[in-house]
Amino acid sequence: MSKQNIILAIESSCDETSAAVIINGQIKSNIVSTQLIHEKYGGVVPELASRAHQQHILPVVNRAIEQAKIGKNEVEAVAFTRGPGLLGSLLVGTSFAKAFALANRIPLIEVNHMQAHVLAHFLDAPQPGFPFLCLTVSGGHTQLVLVEDHLKMKVIGETRDDAVGEAFDKAAKMLGLPYPGGPLIDKQAQMGRADAYEFPISEMPGYEFSFSGIKTALLYFLQKQVKLDADFIDENMADICASYQAALIESLLRKLKKAAKNYKIKEVAIAGGVAANSGLRKALQEMALEKGWKVYIPDFAYCTDNAAMIAMAAHYKFLKREFTAQTVSALPRYSLS
Ligand code: KG4
Ligand code: ZN
Repeated sequence: MSKQNIILAIESSCDETSAAVIINGQIKSNIVSTQLIHEKYGGVVPELASRAHQQHILPVVNRAIEQAKIGKNEVEAVAFTRGPGLLGSLLVGTSFAKAFALANRIPLIEVNHMQAHVLAHFLDAPQPGFPFLCLTVSGGHTQLVLVEDHLKMKVIGETRDDAVGEAFDKAAKMLGLPYPGGPLIDKQAQMGRADAYEFPISEMPGYEFSFSGIKTALLYFLQKQVKLDADFIDENMADICASYQAALIESLLRKLKKAAKNYKIKEVAIAGGVAANSGLRKALQEMALEKGWKVYIPDFAYCTDNAAMIAMAAHYKFLKREFTAQTVSALPRYSLS
C-alpha cells in the first residue's frame, strides 16, 4: 500500500482519554472517553485520573483504529501529548505511545497540548490565515498566542495564577453547582442580568491575566449576602452568574483587543474548553463586528480536550519529519515558546 501519512494520536493530559486517526490531514476517527468519576469530588483527582486512563486507553485506541477502517500495521507514526498536564495522566499516554511505536517499528511524535488546542482550527474549514491571534482558554490554561505558522507560535501573555476555566469551576462550587461548573454558569448566565452586581477586573501588565482576585471577591460577596439572607444564592443565581461571567469575559477580551491593535491583526481565534461559553462567543462576535475582525471558533467537540487536535499537530510535524526519541519523558510543564 502506498504511503498515506497515517498517524494514530493519543491524548491523556487531564481527564479525557482520547485517540484519533488522521490520514493525509483528514480526521478519520476521534474517540473521547470522559472520566465521570471526578464529579463527586468537585474537581479532577490526579490519582484517579491516571488509573482511569489505564483502564480506557486500550479500548479507546482500538475503537479509533476500527472506526478509521485501517489495520494497526498500517499506522505510520504514533503521536502523544507530552505535556502540559497531570504527570500521572501524561505518563499513561506517553508509555502507551512508546510501546506502540516500538512494537510496530514506527516513529513517535510528541505534541504540546497547548499547540494542539490552537491547531484545532485546522480540523475544519474555514481556517484562519497567518498571522492570527488565538486566545486559548481552558480549565488549566489561559494564554494569548501569536500564531505565525502551524508550528511557529509565541505566547504573548498568560495567566499569573488561575486559569479562566478554574475561575468558572471554583465559582460554580461556591454556588453549590456540580463539577465542572463552567457550562452550568453559562446556562444560568443566559437567564440573568450581567449588570446586577459588579466584580473586579484585574489590571495586569502587558497581555497577562489574573483570575484569583475575582474568585476571592465572589467568595466575600457571597459570604456577606448569605449572612443577610440565607436564600440569597438560590434567589439570585442567574444574576450572580451573569455578572461574574461578564467580568471574566471582559478581562479576556480587553487583552485580546489590546493585542490585536498593537500587532495590527484582524484574524482572531479562540480555543479550549471555555471557548464553548456562549457569552464569550457572543461578545467576541460583537467585538469582531465593531473592529472588522474575522473570528474563528472551533466546533464544540474540538474545543474541549480531544485527540483529533493532537493528530492535526502531529500531521504537520510528520510532514517535516519532526520525530521524537524513545527516551523522551512526559513534561507536566511544557511551555509553548
Ligand atoms: O480544554 P478543556 O476541556 O480541558 C482543559 O484542558 O482544561 O477545558 C475544560 C474547562 C472547564 O473548566 C470547564 O468548566 C470549561 O472548560 N467549560 C466552560 C464551558 N464549557 C466548558 N466554561 C464556561 N462555559 C462553558 N460553556
Ligand atoms: Zn486542554
